Amino acid sequence: MTARRESRRVAGGAKRSRMHAGKPSWQDPEFPQQYQKGYVEFYKLKFKVTPDVLIPRPETELLVDAALDCIKYYVSSIKSKNILVLDVGTGSGNIAISIAKNISDLSGLMQPTCEVHIIATDISQKALKIAKQNAKLHGLLDKIKFIKSNLLSRLNYTLPPKEGRVNPKPLGNEVAASSAYTLIIVTNLPYIPAARIPYLESSVKNFEPLIALDGGEDGFELYRKLFAQLVKKGLNPTLLIGEIDYTHGELAALTAQKYFPDAEIEVKKDLAHMQRILTMTNKSDSSH
Ligand SMILES: C[S@@+](CC[C@H](N)C(=O)[O-])C[C@H]1O[C@@H](n2cnc3c(N)ncnc32)[C@H](O)[C@@H]1O
Repeated sequence: MTARRESRRVAGGAKRSRMHAGKPSWQDPEFPQQYQKGYVEFYKLKFKVTPDVLIPRPETELLVDAALDCIKYYVSSIKSKNILVLDVGTGSGNIAISIAKNISDLSGLMQPTCEVHIIATDISQKALKIAKQNAKLHGLLDKIKFIKSNLLSRLNYTLPPKEGRVNPKPLGNEVAASSAYTLIIVTNLPYIPAARIPYLESSVKNFEPLIALDGGEDGFELYRKLFAQLVKKGLNPTLLIGEIDYTHGELAALTAQKYFPDAEIEVKKDLAHMQRILTMTNKSDSSH
């Protein structure tokens, strides 16, 4: 449904403003019906949404599909290691929660040596509050660790010892050094170029959080920062799946290759044939 997303994100008027001052948002005809109802369906699951979080879009389900395919491959591999899934910019928690919910279906395939850990980060405390409420709604609050962080800057996490099977426990920056797990990053960072924001549909620019839309000058700034953080932390994901703007295919591939020269980079189209998903696979990963 990229078409819907494109129309929701591209049409419109002046810079985002809560322009209907004096009138409660919900009385505004442009107020998104998903916020009005208070929930949305994503990956066949119900998610609470408020104007503190982006309304999950159907094309983002493709990221969940890709992540689950990869997890399925790795958990059933004889060489399987623990898997760490990072959802960067979790918003309502839709990606992390959909993955967590569907992992239980893989338990029959899973090698006994393999555990899947999920961390979801967001810079917005308000978004994290909604994400945690959604995790609770689905009985997954103890399965996902939510961290307020500028991308991965506050990532202080290590996998629990195998035999202990304890809850994730912050122990320092070990995640940077560890090669004892397969790292999968799934992310839908803001990617609208700043100059295009005034032209988004009113229902988007007036009501969805600017921090969830604004990708900086060319729209790719947050991805660049994420790549730089990964390199600085010595993290070389086995797989990175990122949702990108339909104009960013070439830019995304070139930039990812610059930061990760040995990775296999691909840009996939969504159902509306728009370039939408960047995948970066670490070819040197021995378990691949
Ligand atoms: C496009 S929304 C995606 C939300 C949700 N993951 C989804 O797919 O529907 C981007 C999210 O990234 C968060 N975000 C923006 N800048 C960030 C940063 N520097 N570090 C972490 N999260 C950030 C926003 O608060 C927002 O929740």
